[in-house]
Parts: sequence; C-alpha cells; structure tokens
Amino acid sequence: MKLLVVGGGGREHAIVRKLLESPKAEKVYCAPGNGGISCDAECVNLSAMDTAGVVSFAKEKKLDLVFVAPDDPLAAGMVDALEAAGIPAFGPRANAAEIESSKVFSKNLMKRYGIPTAGYEVFSAPQEALAYLRAQDRYPAVIKADGLALGKGVIIAQDYAQAEQAVRSIMEDKVFGASGNRVVIEEFLTGPEVSVLAFTDGKTIRPMVSSKDHKRALDGDRGPNTGGMGTVSPNPHYDAAMAERCMQTIFLPTVEAMNREGRPFSGCLYFGLMLTPDGPKVIEYNSRFGDPETQVVLPRLRTDFVDVISAVAEGRLADQPVEWSSQAAACVVMASGGYPGKYRKGVEITGLDSAGQAPGVTVYHAGTVKQDGKFYTAGGRVLGVTALGDTLDEALARAYEGVERIRFDGAQWRTDIGRVKA
Ligand code: AMP
Ligand code: GLY
Repeated sequence: MKLLVVGGGGREHAIVRKLLESPKAEKVYCAPGNGGISCDAECVNLSAMDTAGVVSFAKEKKLDLVFVAPDDPLAAGMVDALEAAGIPAFGPRANAAEIESSKVFSKNLMKRYGIPTAGYEVFSAPQEALAYLRAQDRYPAVIKADGLALGKGVIIAQDYAQAEQAVRSIMEDKVFGASGNRVVIEEFLTGPEVSVLAFTDGKTIRPMVSSKDHKRALDGDRGPNTGGMGTVSPNPHYDAAMAERCMQTIFLPTVEAMNREGRPFSGCLYFGLMLTPDGPKVIEYNSRFGDPETQVVLPRLRTDFVDVISAVAEGRLADQPVEWSSQAAACVVMASGGYPGKYRKGVEITGLDSAGQAPGVTVYHAGTVKQDGKFYTAGGRVLGVTALGDTLDEALARAYEGVERIRFDGAQWRTDIGRVKA
C-alpha cells in the first residue's frame, strides 16, 4: 500500500514509524513532515491544511490510504474531500470532528445522552457570562473557549478577577479568534486524569492501552499548560474494572450518540477522562490521536497497524483483532527554552544518534528541520524521547538516559514524568 500521513509533529513521526513496521506499507509519504520524519518517510511540501493539495497529490500518486492526524484539517473537512474524490481516508468527517472542534457541541451531546461530564452553562455574550460568574461565586471556575485554541482555550480561574480576564480576553479581545464567540463555564472536577484513545469505525469501538499526559510546563505540575510535556502508558490509575465501567458509561454511549446524531465517528476517538470521587467523567473529547500520547501508545501495538487502520476506514473493525504488548512506555518531551511562550528556532541539536542507539530508546521528532545532515530546532516541542521497558521504572530510566545524551541550547524538559501523583 501507498500511504500519506498528514501532519508534521511527534505524533506523526510515531504514526509513520509504526506504519513502516508493516510489510504492507510499500511507500509512506508525510505532508509536511519534519526533519526527523524525513529520515523515515518521503516528506511532501504541502501544508497540513492544504486540502486541495492533499487531494491532488493522493490522486496523482494513486494512494491507497490518507491518514489525517491533526485536528484542524479534520475540522475543515479534509476527510470529506478525500472521500468525495474516492480516496480512502483514516479520520472522521467534519461533522464528527466537531466533537473536538466545538465544546458547546460536545457538552450538549453528553447532556442529551447522559454521558458523565462536568456540569456547565454556555454563553454567547460576555455580560451574561460575567453575571453568571458573579451569581455563582464558586472557585476555581473553569472557562473554555468553544472552538479549537491550540490546547490553550481552557482557563482555571481562582477568583472573579481571573475569571473576568479570561472571559474578556476570549470573548472581547478574541485571542482565539472565532473560537471565542461562545464560552462554556463548567464545574471544577478533581481526580486523576487518564487519556484513552480508541479505534472506532462507528459500529465497533476498541480502546487502546491507557496513557497519562503531563500538560503543565514545569515539575510538580506547575507552570502554564502546554501541548503535553511527557506521557506514560499504561496509566497507573486506570485498571480493568475502571476500563469496563468507562466502556459501559462513556465509550459505547458516545459512539451510539454520534450515530443517533447522524454523525458516525470513524477514526481515533480520544477520551480525556477524570476519575472523580463520583466516578469517571469526560473532561474533553478529541477527534484524533493525542500528542504525545501516541508516542507511548503505538509502540505497544502488536497488531499490524496498516491492518487496523484499513479495517477502521473500511468499517470492518469488528473482524479485526487488536493486540497490545504488556510492556510499559514513557515519553519525555524536550522543548525549546521559553516554551509555551516565546522561544528561539534554528538551534543545533547534537547527540541524536547516540540517543537513538540507547537500548530500547526511540526519538520522535516534533519540531526539527534537517540541513546538511544536521538537525536544528523548529518548534516549541522539539523531541519526544521514548522508551519501552518491562516496568514503568525501566521505561522511564531508559527514556531519561536518552535525554541525557541529547544537547541543544536552552533545552527544557520535566524531570518528573510518570512520578507525579494525580
Ligand atoms: P482541555 O484542553 O480540555 O484538555 O483542558 C486542559 C486541562 O484543564 C485538562 O487536562 C484538565 O487538567 C483541566 N480541566 C479542564 N476541565 C476541567 C474541569 N472541569 N475541572 C478541572 N480541571 C479541568
Ligand atoms: N496531549 C493532549 C492532546 O493531544 O490533546
């Protein structure tokens, strides 16, 4: 098969590597890819948002499957456009991707179908949101922009002043553009967070092994929220009994709800869960693989990945076994100094070969470019240093050994991935 992966971060590097393990993957392209991905796949100079470009490339190369990995092209209808051109695609159509791209849609969906989530109200005028906050007077208050906001659209306000600032910057200053036309204000929940990605073709759902993200920039879960600074799999808080409970109360009801709404979901459905004292609740849905969750989940997949995604795209997941390794995996993100704020680009990275050669270590590139055989930083999150081990301790020790071998000016990473309590 000839395949194209759309996207260019650490998640896409992990997807490309996994596809290449399959004897069925004759050729793998990636658009636009990055410095590390270019060592494994043929990178195509097309933006991940260039739907017309991706469709014509797929036709020209007679591709067998296009894997659309990021949220924005999914929300913009890239899968719809591929289908219309007769090209098989992995990922949801735009009307199903709305489960991520509109928090108002996903919250109303959960309410309508009795899927456990935080209580909430929706506002389309800032004055009403502020009046509600004053009347409620309960903190922390959780304020979310309705639309996509690069993972930055959620503000946990500790008092009215912070809440007011959040509402004004989202709804009046439009810091996230049209994504801030509406806000959701919701109840603050507590408990360990768990990420569960699941393959689904809209009829069958097969959850993958669980994982845990570390979203805050600094050790001890301090500092600003980021796209994710590291992950482990499995998530130590999630056991078989909890998995079964989530299947019955969340996973199956969500697939069914999307069907009833006439928006069958096909692709990878990501459940961001919180295990609250009142049971598991949905914090967010994503319509795609998580980043950096993918980097710890896919290495544990034992079944041929091409077989699994083909079965999803063709609606025959019920007949496709999906098996997982019992090993643990850990991913430590090395980021540019200053991330998630301002950072420098074009800083040379050294030590990559030796990290790749540390036993069991794989370095997924997130934001790099390659020039004359050397790698340079090109983004906030630069590398995801990942390792498998028989235990989580072993996986973590290997991943951190890999990190120690890599150098670039200003590199920052968390030293407590897999160690924080919640
Ligand atoms: P999200 O972008 O929706 O994943 O939200 C970012 C982070 O905000 C989540 O990972 C949670 O840690 C936190 N968060 C979101 N909603 C809530 C909530 N209702 N209660 C407590 N924390 C929340
Ligand atoms: N790591 C969280 C996400 O991909 O949304």
